[in-house]
Amino acid sequence: MEIRLENIQKKFSSVVAVHDMNIRIKDGSLTGLLGPSGCGKSTTLFMIAGLYAPTAGNIFFGDEAVTLLPPEKRGIGLVFQNYALYPHMTVLKNILFPLENMKIPKKEALKMAEEMADIVQIRDLLDRKPSQLSGGQQQRVAIARALVKKARVLLLDEPLSNLDARLRLETREEIRRIQKETGITTIYVTHDQEEAMSITDDIVLMDKGWIQQQDSPQQMYLNPGNQFTAEFLGNPPVNIIDGKITDSVLVVCGEKLCGFDGVEDQPVVVGIRPEAVLIGNGDIKASVRLIEIVGKDKIISLDLKGCLIRAIVSLDYDCNVEELLSFSVKHSGVFLFDKTTGARIKGFAS
Ligand SMILES: Nc1ncnc2c1ncn2[C@@H]1O[C@H](COP(=O)(O)OP(=O)(O)OP(=O)(O)O)[C@@H](O)[C@H]1O
Ligand SMILES: [Mg+2]
Repeated sequence: MEIRLENIQKKFSSVVAVHDMNIRIKDGSLTGLLGPSGCGKSTTLFMIAGLYAPTAGNIFFGDEAVTLLPPEKRGIGLVFQNYALYPHMTVLKNILFPLENMKIPKKEALKMAEEMADIVQIRDLLDRKPSQLSGGQQQRVAIARALVKKARVLLLDEPLSNLDARLRLETREEIRRIQKETGITTIYVTHDQEEAMSITDDIVLMDKGWIQQQDSPQQMYLNPGNQFTAEFLGNPPVNIIDGKITDSVLVVCGEKLCGFDGVEDQPVVVGIRPEAVLIGNGDIKASVRLIEIVGKDKIISLDLKGCLIRAIVSLDYDCNVEELLSFSVKHSGVFLFDKTTGARIKGFAS
């Protein structure tokens, strides 16, 4: 089911939580709604769910305008961060609950609940109470309950925030598997860029109620449209430094970093992905200020005449603090942004 938001706005008295939003969510996709706390993710999701009425604009499920439909008529399944299962009911009763509300005959309801339990792989837990399950298992029950009534759209609001780090990894993969297996159009709200990057087909990135970019995770990372997007995605984060373009060359801290054809002379904000700093390759020299070991990688902070630039290398790369290293940069990992608007300025490698 394709979902479209057309000129959607939401105001809470004087606060504009969502500004003039236009998005298209592809049928059968898993789309991440990503952004920092307070940027309007939940507000957007709740408008799609029908829990909030937009102040302006329209929402479509396929060709059907659903803007005025109450939540129960939209065919959605909702899952929140706190699992909200009924604690006194068994897992099976929890999953059956929406079907009983719809007055589906018992035998048929049982079959539907068991099928859904198979899909989310909790068949052997049906007789337990929620308190006898792990957080990840509880979230799977919540997903089964959301989907059992043949939802057309699955809406998840930070479904993993209550889980510990390891369970978060497992459960997000589980959500991806369930989504692929059922083919259900899913919107997944998260503030965690890594989570969004790892499981979604498409990301809608928001800031302060405005959409910053909608793209596949890979495109958004490789080709950010503005400084906010470049900074929000990536760990370790992109290096942000002041620079200037002079005669089609990017100059940072008095050093010529690389050529940028087609960009006029001007001061710029420069974003350099840590993996685009190629150590041992090139003739720019900088001294090592700090070495951090992060899992299988080493992050080296280089001091280039007072500018700090982080580079990422493999763990077995040997170097010492204060050592002088030479480096160059990979053009495709260097972004230029307008100093006042933050918009991307594109040029060509030269
Ligand atoms: N019921 C409400 N009344 C007034 N303001 C609200 C209401 N709900 C949200 N807001 C405001 O709207 C903005 C967006 O809130 P929203 O809950 O959508 O953010 P979010 O992106 O989901 O954040 P988080 O990651 O913290 O959950 C915030 O400034 C918030 O304070
Ligand atoms: Mg929220």
